[in-house]
Amino acid sequence: MSNTAPHPLLQTLRERLGHAHVLTADQTDLSSYEQDWRKRIRGKALAVVRPANTLEVSDVIKACAQARVSVVPQGGNTGLVVGSIPDASGTQVLLSLQRMNAVRHIDTDNLTLTVEAGCILQNVQQAAEQAGFLFPLSLGAEGSCTIGGNLATNAGGTQVLRYGNARDLCLGLEVVTATGDVLHGLSGLRKDNTGYDLRNLMIGSEGTLGIITAATLKLFPMPAAQLTAWAAVPSVADAVKLLGLAHQHLGAGLTGFEMMGQFALSLVDKHYAHLRVPLWQDSPYYVLLENSDSESEAHARERFEHLLELAFNDGCVRDAIVAESLSQTRNLWHIRESITLAQVDEGLNIKHDISVPISSIPDFVAQTDALLKKEIAGVRLVNFGHLGDGNLHYNVQAPEGADTAAFLREHEDTVNTLVYQSVRKFGGSISAEHGVGSMKVDSLPDYKDPVALHCMQHIKHALDPQGLLNPGRVVR
Ligand code: FAD
Ligand code: MLT
Ligand code: ZN
Repeated sequence: MSNTAPHPLLQTLRERLGHAHVLTADQTDLSSYEQDWRKRIRGKALAVVRPANTLEVSDVIKACAQARVSVVPQGGNTGLVVGSIPDASGTQVLLSLQRMNAVRHIDTDNLTLTVEAGCILQNVQQAAEQAGFLFPLSLGAEGSCTIGGNLATNAGGTQVLRYGNARDLCLGLEVVTATGDVLHGLSGLRKDNTGYDLRNLMIGSEGTLGIITAATLKLFPMPAAQLTAWAAVPSVADAVKLLGLAHQHLGAGLTGFEMMGQFALSLVDKHYAHLRVPLWQDSPYYVLLENSDSESEAHARERFEHLLELAFNDGCVRDAIVAESLSQTRNLWHIRESITLAQVDEGLNIKHDISVPISSIPDFVAQTDALLKKEIAGVRLVNFGHLGDGNLHYNVQAPEGADTAAFLREHEDTVNTLVYQSVRKFGGSISAEHGVGSMKVDSLPDYKDPVALHCMQHIKHALDPQGLLNPGRVVR
């Protein structure tokens, strides 16, 4: 195909969706669709298509299948494993779900909410709240990620220890398959044992098995009060001890338990000084805890204060504050969620999203820290994450003042190998919540059970024999 002759598929897509919703680089700046969130990789799309409804998604897939052109689905493009942008070939169609953002139905007796895949997560939370309920999925990118992307990645976030991952919050899906057929699965049923669980197969498949077009989600009662505390802890082992105490004394009221290392917080202090990180110089680690209470704020505070008193007496907490107002609560969460951006501001870095059994976290951190410090003099470790789920963002930043691009060229592969081998030693996973995308697809065979990987390849081939949906992501 010469550069000047448009691909015949574009004509077909324009007839189906209208000219305004088939974007090409010669007419529009496509960088927001083609660039990954961390700005490490830029792809090139044949076209960006923006269908308005499920039927149009089906039309796009059928037209692409006929033309043997592959399709990359995209929601908010906040994914951190380079799975939502096209490759560099200029031959893939990027299918954006952004226009499919309607709330279709709320069933307050069934405690369900049905939304289209392109709904921004924050809007889903707000729709639930307006109906008097809680939709608990919560993550730093919630102002721009979509529920379709959350389900496609089985996103985690900060409420998993109480409410589960995105998977646990979804009862039904509507999906366009690789043949363009529509799988109508928005049942809202809590019990349905009529064979293989296709919903759970699609969740976490990162756009490689089907395009999620709508979802039926679980709603929960809104807590009467949510209190947040910030605790300085002497060590990772003490943070784990505090987690045990919090489970014991708060029970199902414990809805958040995040750990942050001192260096991670020093980056927030450096790049966002106005956030005024509390106590950050006093201790090597900090914990942000959330207690949700179905009775009252006074009840929540009493239980929280009792827990912290026990923890002080035990010695696993050195100092702590309990937020006194909603704005202080928001600020504490904002500090935690600003670590990612503060790291971006500090410069290129190596990101990890690992999980190990919670009981192994102290040894994992001690041993892996030692390995990395021995390998790279002056290396800076940005360790934070969802300790309550055994999930750490165990990130590696270049030594102070180093040329960050050179640091990545020289050390990225070695660092990944050291960290992943350590994860394997402790029985963990190299991707806890962000997914595989194209960043980890080549590492997966070294760390995934070979039989599991083989089954995954068979499933991919059975559902997408032409390999049209997000090729090169998750499995090869
Ligand atoms: P995209 O980035 O657009 O896509 C992600 C993947 O899903 C791609 O493979 C894409 O092809 C596929 N996909 C998207 N939509 C569909 C669809 N409708 N059907 C089929 N496939 C689809 N993640 C966490 O798990 N926990 C966190 O705490 C967290 N915090 C974050 C904080 C920040 C500041 C940022 C930038 C990211 C964070 N993430 C987190 C990562 C990211 O937000 C999640 O992976 C999120 O679920 C991606 O949603 P998205 O709509 O942006 O998807
Ligand atoms: C988080 O927990 O803040 C996210 O998963 C983002 C990140 O890993 O940087
Ligand atoms: Zn996370």
